Amino acid sequence: MMTVLVTGGMGYIGSHTCLRLLEAGYGVVSVDNLCNSSPLCLERVQAITGKTLRSYIGDVRDETLLRRIFTENDIQCVIHFAGLKAVGESVSKPWAYYDNNLNSTLSLTKVMGEVGVKRIIFSSSATVYTAGNPMPLKEDSQTGGCTNPYGWTKYMTEQILSDIAYADPAWSVTLLRYFNPIGAHESGQIGEDPQGIPNNLMPFITQVAIGRRDRLRIFGNDYPTPDGTCIRDYIHVMDLAQGHVAAVRYTMDNTGTEVFNLGTGRGSSVLEMVNAFMSATGVDIPYEIVGRRPGDIAVCYADPGKSQRVLGWTAQRTLTDMCRDSWNWQQKNPMGFGR
Ligand code: NAD
Ligand code: UD1
Repeated sequence: MMTVLVTGGMGYIGSHTCLRLLEAGYGVVSVDNLCNSSPLCLERVQAITGKTLRSYIGDVRDETLLRRIFTENDIQCVIHFAGLKAVGESVSKPWAYYDNNLNSTLSLTKVMGEVGVKRIIFSSSATVYTAGNPMPLKEDSQTGGCTNPYGWTKYMTEQILSDIAYADPAWSVTLLRYFNPIGAHESGQIGEDPQGIPNNLMPFITQVAIGRRDRLRIFGNDYPTPDGTCIRDYIHVMDLAQGHVAAVRYTMDNTGTEVFNLGTGRGSSVLEMVNAFMSATGVDIPYEIVGRRPGDIAVCYADPGKSQRVLGWTAQRTLTDMCRDSWNWQQKNPMGFGR
């Protein structure tokens, strides 16, 4: 059996990916320091799949721990999710973001090189694309000019991994640029569990729906879009998880660096999302229009053509599926994992 090391395996995307990997017949080893997650989620992944995985609690920057993990397990490929991801927080705590996101990658690839495991898939983001690119975004659209330290850590990590693969042709590096993951596993047993006030749209909407917030604040309706609110490419987290299974196959069969968009290719406005949620769930979402959020761009969506052609992957689930599954998770877990 092929075994994949998943860093950040207890996080939102990591846990859904562990689930899909187990279902697809892979062995899974997770390492997570619990800085933004609950150990409950991997217990639930094992209950849902009826399969077991191995979980280490610890930091990816801890090289001694990494050596132990590679010694105790026969790992062939790594998916590197672990990192800090709050854009606003990265502006106020840049050092913590550069330390966590860059040093985790450096420690991980150092130990991978030592033990001869040279296949890595990295969680990058649509945020690496320069504002002002024509839409849809293609993998060779312009990158850089990031507006916050979080975005720079993604940009820099892409560069570091590409340089490593350039220097040693035995490496296989797959950079996945996610658009806007939402939704949850259809069981409602695992899902996104933000701490404090959610920064992102869908968790905010579901917290309004469950009564934890009084109303949604929509950041601007004066953008150059049909209804004036921003347009994004929302993708179901289970489609994203399936994209990682496809990426593992690709990464095992190829060397060098390749980059893929993981998005649907369809843009939806904030108002369309609110309406989609209300019609999928029958729950009213009160909202008010407030000023723009600094750093937001009007429109962002993917050209997923390369992923379709090369990985053989396309997103299958609809906006209705995404809204229904986000709501199912929130209803079954009003306080998330209760951290
Ligand atoms: P998440 O916070 O839910 O998951 C990240 C996990 O990594 C958490 O469980 C956290 O405890 C763990 N972690 C963080 N630093 C660690 C360290 N040094 N050592 C060990 N574990 C550590 O986030 P997510 O939404 O699942 O995102 C996963 C990855 O995808 C991140 O790298 C994120 O930047 C990237 N990404 C996310 C989105 C999104 O919208 N969710 C979009 C683009 C890219
Ligand atoms: C966020 C991240 C970005 C990351 C992307 C994909 C920020 C500033 N940017 O951007 O780096 O690559 O996710 O995961 O966090 N909105 C509201 N009210 C809210 C919340 C959001 O109106 O309470 C609007 C936003 O203005 C935006 C849209 O909803 O137009 C989506 O917001 P969000 O979920 O934060 O995603 P991104 O802005 O794409």
